[in-house]
This record gives sequence, structure tokens and C-alpha cells, in this order.
Amino acid sequence: MSKIRSLLDRRTSQVITLVVVLYIVIFLHVSNSKFDRIFRSDKTHLPTTSHIDGLNLKKCGLQTKNIEDLRDQLSFAFPYDPQARIPRRVWQTWKVGTDSMDFPSTFRRYQEDWTVMAGDSFEHSLVPDDHIEPLLENMYAEVPLVLKAFKEMPATILKADFLRYLLLFARGGIYSDMDTIPLKPFDSWPSLNKHKMKTLRKENSPIPFKSSKNPRVPDEEPGFIIGIEADPDRADWNDWYARRIQFCQWTIQSKPGHPILRELILNITATTLYSVADTKSQSKSLIDLSYVNDYNVNYRDKRGLNETYPHEEAKKSTNIDGTDIMNWTGPGIFSDITLEYINNLIAHNPDVALLNGNLDATSEEVDPKSTRKFYKKISTSLQSNNVVPWEFFSLMTKPALVDDILVLPITAFSPDVEQMEAKSSKDEMALVKHMFEGSWKSEADNNAGH
Ligand SMILES: *[C@@H]1O[C@H](CO)[C@@H](O)[C@H](O)[C@H]1NC(C)=O
Ligand SMILES: *[C@@H]1O[C@H](CO)[C@@H](O)[C@H](O)[C@H]1NC(C)=O
Ligand SMILES: *[C@@H]1O[C@H](CO)[C@@H](O)[C@H](O)[C@H]1NC(C)=O
Repeated sequence: MSKIRSLLDRRTSQVITLVVVLYIVIFLHVSNSKFDRIFRSDKTHLPTTSHIDGLNLKKCGLQTKNIEDLRDQLSFAFPYDPQARIPRRVWQTWKVGTDSMDFPSTFRRYQEDWTVMAGDSFEHSLVPDDHIEPLLENMYAEVPLVLKAFKEMPATILKADFLRYLLLFARGGIYSDMDTIPLKPFDSWPSLNKHKMKTLRKENSPIPFKSSKNPRVPDEEPGFIIGIEADPDRADWNDWYARRIQFCQWTIQSKPGHPILRELILNITATTLYSVADTKSQSKSLIDLSYVNDYNVNYRDKRGLNETYPHEEAKKSTNIDGTDIMNWTGPGIFSDITLEYINNLIAHNPDVALLNGNLDATSEEVDPKSTRKFYKKISTSLQSNNVVPWEFFSLMTKPALVDDILVLPITAFSPDVEQMEAKSSKDEMALVKHMFEGSWKSEADNNAGH
């Protein structure tokens, strides 16, 4: 009996010792990484996404060299696996959850469409406002400057834009605004449909560019899927839109860790920390001082040339407008970073495959309603400068593939707009319809040129 007891005692004390040791280990680990994080965020360098000559954006950050660089921190925390499947998940966000009385009834109908479409094979997450910060704190614990930038953004619309990029970069899937409805089952989206991808690969041979060599047509599901939002083929386009080709960001599909999102998050974080009132002065030591204007959203547009504009004024909720939003987090910067990434890609990777059936090299005919209209300019630009011009994505009716980036025609996410060659929601290419109903969004959309 006493033997048993002493054995038990020994067990108990062993267990207690183990628990104490574990506790100390865990405590040390947690406090260490916390310390590490705080320490790290104080000296993390914020590189600009312009002036990156010599850097291969597709390959960089694969093995982390310098953890005090935000680009490396992001690639390290969310490594990109081009072979992975696209996560079967839909993200949406709204002020309140569907269980709240304040959830708008029209959105309830749209929401149900998404849930039905998601069925059992897709996870459908609606993130209400009060879940956002805890969720991001969890996802981005390793990259504290990103969290800091998110918290300091002086307008809800900026946060709403930034949030979609952050969710997709960390977890992947489809993001779609609350005022959208899905039109087709997800397995008929070209990105998720083996048959459609196969046809696209079979029907198109890679378009040569100056340094192209042994192009490799990727076999996997594409990594980043976007549609065209605006393609105003008219002389006065600039009165209506910020970019001649504007990529759509109310619906985006992506694998986690995609380098386009990394560059976008990097740009937005750096711009925010330098432009907002709370961190403007502290962030001076983190930025590349030879390009200080790159970080200042007050230089991001015509204002850069306006000598009377108060460029050094820090951004607060009272002094930002639609122009800022467009070029800070919205479709303007989204389109710029995407095109810049594509051009960095072909400048450094000779094996990149460019597939674009809209260019049809066998036809001599110049159809003013097709991408062929720009054939000459596109091929000259590719052959002599290794540059994919915006024209490459103009007047598309079929998807184009650039490495692992699938670009869908305007009809995909913008059917029924009755302009810019968009077809109706009955068209095979129509996947999502934007109802243009958001409350706080509608104001911003007006500013964005709708
Ligand atoms: C962000 O991207 C814009 C558009 O390419 C560029 O003009 C700006 O210099 C970039 N800024 C930073 C901090 O990366
Ligand atoms: C330049 O900026 C000032 C101050 O914001 C503004 O009043 C003026 O209209 C701007 N000029 C132009 C040509 O945009
Ligand atoms: C945004 O930036 C672009 C390019 O730098 C510039 O042409 C435009 O005027 C800016 N403003 C808006 C609203 O797009």
C-alpha cells in the first residue's frame, strides 16, 4: 500500500515538475517572440515597390535573408506554393453578422445565393466588423507593421480595401463584396474547371517576348484570378476612370501568399505608415529616404505637381478624398501593382508563358472590337522592350493567362453594365454580378468614377 502511495507521490511530483518546466518554456517562448516582434517592428525596413531594378519579384523572399525587411517578413510568414490548390473558400465582410437585425435585407438575399453556391464543398465566411481586428491579430502576428498600418488607416473604405488583400494573402479563396451575387457554380469558373483550363492551354501557343526562352505553360490551377473592371476605349476615358485598364477588386480569387498581394500589402503598409498622422514622424527611420515621395500619398497624383498643395500634411479622416482612396488602397493601386508585377515577371523569367487567345496571331483582320486592334503595339512592345502594355488586356472576350495569373474579360465580374463591350449575365463568361448597392461604398464608388 505504502509502496503504491510513494509511487503515486513520485508520479505526482514528476507531473508537477513537468508542468512547471513546460510552463516556463512556454512563458519564455511567448515573451521572447513578443519581445522579438516589438523589437522587430521598430526597425523593420519599409522598401518601396517602385525602384526595384534587379529584383525578381517572383523569386524573391523564397529563402529569407533579411527578416528586418517587410517584403521578406511577408514572404516568410506566408510562403507561396504555386502547386497548391486554390482554397475552396469564400470571404465576405460586413458591419454586422447575418444574425443581427441591422443586417440589410437585400444583402440577406445576396448572401443566401453565395451560401447556396458554396454548398458543402466551399467554406463561406462572413467577417463582421468586431471580428476583424482579432482575426488579423491572429493572422498577422508575425508581421506587426501590417497590423499597425491597418489600425491607423483613417477611413473605413481604406480598411475595407486593405482587408480583402490581407484575407486572401493569408488564407486564399474568393473574396467578394456584399453587394455581389454569384451567377454560376464555382466549378464552372475557368480557374476551378480543369476542362476550361485545358482548352485555354491547348488553343493558345505562348506569345514570344524579347527574352523568352522555353516557355513553361503551368499545369496547376492559376494562383491569382482577376477580372477587368473598366476598359473605356474612348478618347476622353480619363474623365471617367483613373486607369485605361482597371482591374476589378470587388471580386478576387487567389492562392495564399501570392506575390502580387505581397507587393500590394507592402506598398499600402509603407504608404500608410508614412502618410498618416500617428506614425508619420516615427516611420522616417524605416523608409528609403532617397525616394521619400514614394511613401507619401499626397504625391501619388496630379497633386504631386501642384506646388500649392500641402504635401507634407499628414493624412487624417478630415483630409482624405476619393482621389486618395483610388491610389492608396483602391482599384488604381491594385491595377498598377498587378501590371508592374507582370512586367517584372517577364523581365526576369524567360520561361514565362503568355497565353492570350484574343490576339489571334493567325488572323490578319483588324477587328476594332477586339484586342487585335492593338496587335502591332503589343507585339512591338513585347519584342523590343519585354513590356506587357495595358493594351494586352483591352477588349478581351476570352480569358488570358500570364504565368499563373488568369485575367478574365469584363463580362466575368461586370456583366450587364451595357458599356465597354460587357455582355449580359446570361453569357457563359459571366460569373459574378455587382449590384452597386453598398452604403459607405457607393460614395467611394462614385469617386472611383462609376
Ligand atoms: C506604391 O505604388 C505606386 C504605384 O506604382 C508607386 O508610385 C509608389 O512609389 C509605391 N510606393 C511604395 C512606398 O511602395
Ligand atoms: C492645388 O492645390 C490647392 C490646395 O489644395 C488647390 O486649392 C488647387 O485647386 C490645386 N490646383 C490644381 C490645379 O489642382
Ligand atoms: C492616381 O494616380 C494616377 C497615376 O499616378 C494619376 O494619374 C491620377 O490622377 C491619380 N488620381 C486618381 C483619382 O486616380
